[in-house]
Amino acid sequence: MEDPVDITLATYEAAAGTYVDVSARPGPTVPGFLDRRVALIGEGMVLEVGSGPGRDADHLPTHGLRVVRTDSTRAFVERLRARGPDVRLLDARTDPLGGPYRGGLADAVLLRLSRSGFEDSFGPHRRGPSR
Ligand SMILES: C[S@@+](CC[C@H](N)C(=O)[O-])C[C@H]1O[C@@H](n2cnc3c(N)ncnc32)[C@H](O)[C@@H]1O
Repeated sequence: MEDPVDITLATYEAAAGTYVDVSARPGPTVPGFLDRRVALIGEGMVLEVGSGPGRDADHLPTHGLRVVRTDSTRAFVERLRARGPDVRLLDARTDPLGGPYRGGLADAVLLRLSRSGFEDSFGPHRRGPSR
């Protein structure tokens, strides 16, 4: 059976422009949520899985964090690169995550993974070589 995540990603790929145009901008609670995350992390490098249009990550550097933006949808990666930020094409299910990181952010990504899929994607065996 096809992985449902692949269907979701194919939809993002086909409709990235529409997503950017019509999806709601972050509501008033999102900056507060991100601010609380930052307070927990402190300073350093943060991995964002699923940067999409980059709205969350745009907020974080104002706190002195270095955000490693990643997404598995090539259309989002190309759109983000076109407006400036560096971003890696990365599928969290299969690609090395790199690191070490002080923290991670994955907004509306993890809900698509089963429990075992989450462990496969983010378990200790999936870390890349330490740098
Ligand atoms: C709702 S969007 C995230 C929005 C983004 N955080 C923002 O600030 O606008 C979810 C993103 O997760 C990405 N995604 C879904 N599954 C993924 C995976 N396995 N690995 C990497 N990215 C994934 C999608 O391509 C999509 O861009």
